[in-house]
Amino acid sequence: MHDTTAAGPGSACPELFTWEFAADPYPAYAWLREHAPVRRTTLPSGVEAWLVTRYADAREALADPRLSKNPQHHSEAAHGKGKVGIPGERSANLMTHLLNIDPPDHTRLRRLVSKAFTPRTVARFAPRVQELTDQLIDGFAARGEADLIHEFAFPLPIYAICDLLGVPREDQDDFRDWAGMMIRHGGGPRGGVARSVKKMRAYLADLIHRKRESLAARETEDEDLISALIRASDHGEHLTENEAAAMAFILLFAGFETTVNLIGNGTYALLRNPEQRARLQAALAAGDEELLATGIEELLRYDGPVELATWRFATQGLTIGGQEIAVGDPVLVVLAAADRDPERFEAPDTLDLGRRDNQHLGYGHGIHYCLGAPLARLEGRTALATLLTRLPDIRLAADPDDLRWRGGLIMRGLRALPVEFTPEG
Ligand code: HEM
Repeated sequence: MHDTTAAGPGSACPELFTWEFAADPYPAYAWLREHAPVRRTTLPSGVEAWLVTRYADAREALADPRLSKNPQHHSEAAHGKGKVGIPGERSANLMTHLLNIDPPDHTRLRRLVSKAFTPRTVARFAPRVQELTDQLIDGFAARGEADLIHEFAFPLPIYAICDLLGVPREDQDDFRDWAGMMIRHGGGPRGGVARSVKKMRAYLADLIHRKRESLAARETEDEDLISALIRASDHGEHLTENEAAAMAFILLFAGFETTVNLIGNGTYALLRNPEQRARLQAALAAGDEELLATGIEELLRYDGPVELATWRFATQGLTIGGQEIAVGDPVLVVLAAADRDPERFEAPDTLDLGRRDNQHLGYGHGIHYCLGAPLARLEGRTALATLLTRLPDIRLAADPDDLRWRGGLIMRGLRALPVEFTPEG
């Protein structure tokens, strides 16, 4: 960790969005929190946005109804300069998803999907997540080394979400490829990403159509999430086929790279903090799962997958942390900065798996609070517990300075995580 106290009052803002920043953004966030907690910044795409870095401001902004999620409120959208949102989503007609809309539409769609995507749905899915986790570890356990991103953190969530949605097993490798394209090129060339988004969208639209027809033809009900979404739409409330496709897509999109990075960043943080890792292994060996539960929350706070919350746009003039924000201005809440705010968290740069009073913002806050949090927690707990139990001496097989982080704007995660361990006999 760099010395975050070096920046004196007169010092300039550290450079943002460089490779050094991607490797360790926390010193720059400490500077922003202290010297410019609501700062207008030019993003790599050329779009200007306000970065909100203090916990109290961040929490308030996330729940402020004057900040809209609808990109049409972006002042630059009108003259075609706005480059926000999911690549390819405009052409693919995916605009009506939860992260792009406000009440009352948001309320209606969220209620419908919440009926389908219940904590019970997720709990029922636990044995399958365990099975997937073990299968993936089987793939490399005898080798004594692996790239945990490529072989573990990346495939687990994509197969899990495909299973949950009801994508047949034989088609899931297509999703793996499309998702791979999205994750490899996130923040890079957009053509391939847009094509992958289009293919996913077309596949999902077709799958929804087929499931709707087969549901109508049969008495039995499938348990998958797409069937549940269709049923929710058929009980008096309205969910169009297009909305169902956008919903399935946003579940995939929001639930995939985030979970990859929860597992990747989480494992990396444990490997860099041997005392905490040993503490967790001892608890797991004793059958005590409580430290695992608080530990996952702490890993989300300490180095979570979502560095910046998704876009918000001012629908009227407002003040955040004493700074005036004009109508149409984009606001980006920096979750990673807020979650290291010393005004809110004691010793914020220390990883403490047993941390209490840990109301981090890693899943957001307010009406857009992460819908998939129960699934993410299930996947995170299963992945880390199984990894540390089956490969107890797992260790980093690279110099931390040589590891490369993805330079995307919203997400924070490693490109590769090489590890070694005693091969499973
Ligand atoms: C929303 C984080 C996993 C589905 C959000 C938001 C955050 C977040 C910060 C709010 C964004 C904002 O307010 O701008 C995470 C993290 C995850 C994770 C850190 C993993 C560790 C998942 C999973 C799913 C999911 C597994 C689904 C399968 C969603 C959806 C929303 C959302 C649908 C939009 C909710 C709404 O607008 O009402 N997530 N997420 N997420 N997340 Fe997650």
